[in-house]
Amino acid sequence: MKEVLDRERIPRHIAIIMDGNGRWAKKKGAMRIFGHRHAIQAVKDAIEGAENLGVEYLTLFSFSTENWSRPQEEVNGLMELLVKTITDEVPMMMKNNIRLESIGDLDSLPPTAYDKLMEAKKTTSTNNGLTVILALSYSGQWELAQATKRIAQKISEGTLTVEEITQKVVADHLETAGIPDPELMIRTSGEFRISNFLLWQLAYTELHFTPVLWPDFRREHLIAAIVDYQNRERRFGKTGEQVKS
Ligand code: IPE
Ligand code: IPE
Ligand code: MG
Repeated sequence: MKEVLDRERIPRHIAIIMDGNGRWAKKKGAMRIFGHRHAIQAVKDAIEGAENLGVEYLTLFSFSTENWSRPQEEVNGLMELLVKTITDEVPMMMKNNIRLESIGDLDSLPPTAYDKLMEAKKTTSTNNGLTVILALSYSGQWELAQATKRIAQKISEGTLTVEEITQKVVADHLETAGIPDPELMIRTSGEFRISNFLLWQLAYTELHFTPVLWPDFRREHLIAAIVDYQNRERRFGKTGEQVKS
């Protein structure tokens, strides 16, 4: 097992399920929102780490479709934190040539969160370094239903035929159209599930699970995940011999 990072084989796209904020707060005898506030430093560390390593896309699962069912107070706290963080971090993104993008049902966000997000996306739109993609009010099943609707719409308008539907056509109607699939997906907090994240895009992604709770996640954990990824053999359905040759 190689312990050192190979800088020539950094994944182009890393996706992260940032989990464990509530448990982190509970361990400290604090309210859940305290964990969410401490998650921001981990987000900044992951962005900075990804940027330094030359990662092209970093997708962060920030709020799922299902998270709307949490207590209203927690949902409000998370939305306020989103507005504050985006506002605070635009200068950092400009300084580091970072472009902000998003996937998910943005129309369901509170108007202030929606406006701040749109503004930050516009401000950073011409940056061409790392692209940070926030998954907000996002779920993989929602996205697939959306794509199905968009495709059905084109068929009913006569701009697409049933025979023309290929895997590429489906991919092109997803929220992530034009973005390469992640090579590596990290989930923190010791949970071994996908929780409705990027269902289509994770088809051949290497999965890295760590017990670290998200507020404790730092650059060294990101590097450990990439080293783990670099030690995997990606076969895409072929035999081990085929991919070695
Ligand atoms: C992840 O941490 C953040 C969001 C889902 C918004 P959690 O809030 O899920 O923390 P746990 O899983 O309860 O510890
Ligand atoms: C997944 O975490 C969603 C985000 C990290 C935003 P959850 O905490 O919502 O997932 P479950 O409920 O444990 O599956
Ligand atoms: Mg959780």
